Amino acid sequence: MSERVTVLTEEEIADKVTLVAKQISSDYRGEELVVIAILKGAFIFCADLIRKLTLESVKVDFLRAASYGSGITSSEEVKLIKDIDIDIKSKHVLIVEDIVDTGRTLSFLVEHMRLRGPKSVRICAMIDKRERRKTDIQVDYACHTVAEGFLVGYGLDFAENYRNLPGLYHLKQ
Ligand code: IMP
Ligand code: MG
Repeated sequence: MSERVTVLTEEEIADKVTLVAKQISSDYRGEELVVIAILKGAFIFCADLIRKLTLESVKVDFLRAASYGSGITSSEEVKLIKDIDIDIKSKHVLIVEDIVDTGRTLSFLVEHMRLRGPKSVRICAMIDKRERRKTDIQVDYACHTVAEGFLVGYGLDFAENYRNLPGLYHLKQ
């Protein structure tokens, strides 16, 4: 049996997303922004975030990477399963991720983006989880920081379950 303990309610998430969107809108004022959501986990967060951006030009694309199997342990290898279609050369890119854990997925993806010559690459994560960080990746925008634990809900899964939960929960086994 697993128990779920609330980390953030739906209302708390909405407030945090609004705040981060405000900051991003102010930082990129007058600029064109390409938002890249990392599937599958970031699809809900990204959908909420982009609707709160007050920028003139926001383009959206999706990329799918896999670093986890169906369980709780992190694999060392990151694989690209679906690449972006938009040309990001000389564009400001914002990578939107559900949760940063070891940071390996993002290190790989930032490197992958940089090869295409964007004007800038920044990272926005719903959750910045510091416990197991293995890279020196910089999370530019984070809605919430947690020290540890396995979280589910609001797009985050455990073995593909719980993505649909409107809040964020700590899954205790
Ligand atoms: P990293 O490469 O170790 O930073 O792993 C990042 C990816 O692992 C995230 O995009 C998630 O898909 C997954 N992940 C890491 N921690 C959690 C968690 O607490 N709950 C659900 N998925 C997680
Ligand atoms: Mg993910």
